[in-house]
Amino acid sequence: MAIQWFPGHMHLTRKAIGERVKDIDVVIEVLDARLPGSSANPLLSELTGHKPTLKVLNKQDMADPERTPLWLDWYNAQPGVRALQLDASDTAPTRKLIDGCHQLSPNRGGMAKPMRVLICGVPNVGKSTLINTMSNKRQAKTGDEAGITKLEQRITLADDFYLWDTPGMLWPRITAPESGYNLAASGAVGRNAYDEELVALELLRRLQRQYAPLLEARYKLALPEGAVAQMHDEELLEAIGRKRGAMLGGGRVNLQKTAEIVLTDFRTAILGRITLETPTEFEAWREAGLLEDAERAIRKEARKVKTKKPQRGGAPEA
Ligand code: G4P
Repeated sequence: MAIQWFPGHMHLTRKAIGERVKDIDVVIEVLDARLPGSSANPLLSELTGHKPTLKVLNKQDMADPERTPLWLDWYNAQPGVRALQLDASDTAPTRKLIDGCHQLSPNRGGMAKPMRVLICGVPNVGKSTLINTMSNKRQAKTGDEAGITKLEQRITLADDFYLWDTPGMLWPRITAPESGYNLAASGAVGRNAYDEELVALELLRRLQRQYAPLLEARYKLALPEGAVAQMHDEELLEAIGRKRGAMLGGGRVNLQKTAEIVLTDFRTAILGRITLETPTEFEAWREAGLLEDAERAIRKEARKVKTKKPQRGGAPEA
């Protein structure tokens, strides 16, 4: 499935991050704990190079509590990376972030060497909510200070701790289709950029394999035990639509409306605490995606060579 989004301010944001990162000690990347691999922006690591990074697995209250530790371990095993989990019910997230940043950059701190931090995240990971909780209305808005671009906001979390906020940024092309589906299911991608029915079907397929009891409990499908996991995804979407009364004339199910119901139930965690990917799955998708990209590049190169006209005056063939 292709997700077609218009990357809005992407180029400007990218430029702003590229400029700001030179003076930054630590990057905080806010991730969606329900898709901690797919919500990490590969463009960001390109832009921030080897800056120490704090990965915040946010909205952990909606994620599978058995899977979040797998992701924390996976990220914490990476050099220059620390990870922690968080959610909006945390009344004092500032201390956690400040401590995490000091662990990553122990030489910064104090008025002479304040900690300078860039905070990023794809849309809808809860970055604004987190910043609002932390900033306590201390943030300096665009234009308040010289040297801060229109796309940035500087927030003083402590006298020696500055946080630069950037707009939520996606990247131009998603390598692994599974990551695209997960991002769309989470609400990170604008509604016009994908087909909701396709995204709901893909989500159901994932949930059937890994969270079938939650589907049974939510939609009360009254099927024999184990049947939900065996159903065809379209059959399941239809059964949910019937159960929820999403009908068109002539006894047909309104699949679009049903898709919206399923997506909303996932996004609001009414379905339960779900994590759509494990580190192992995510790595496999990413590797397959990269391989496909490489093969595509080779095919493109081969086509170019094939269609290249022989140059005039070239050496005569033997
Ligand atoms: P963003 O800046 O990264 O784009 O995300 P934002 O803070 O706007 O949050 C997106 C949605 O996620 C909001 O819900 C927000 O309330 C919700 N949210 C943020 N953090 C958490 C969290 O830790 N746990 C849970 N369960 N939800 C969280 P919304 O319905 O889009 O808006 P609202 O009416 O609730 O504000």
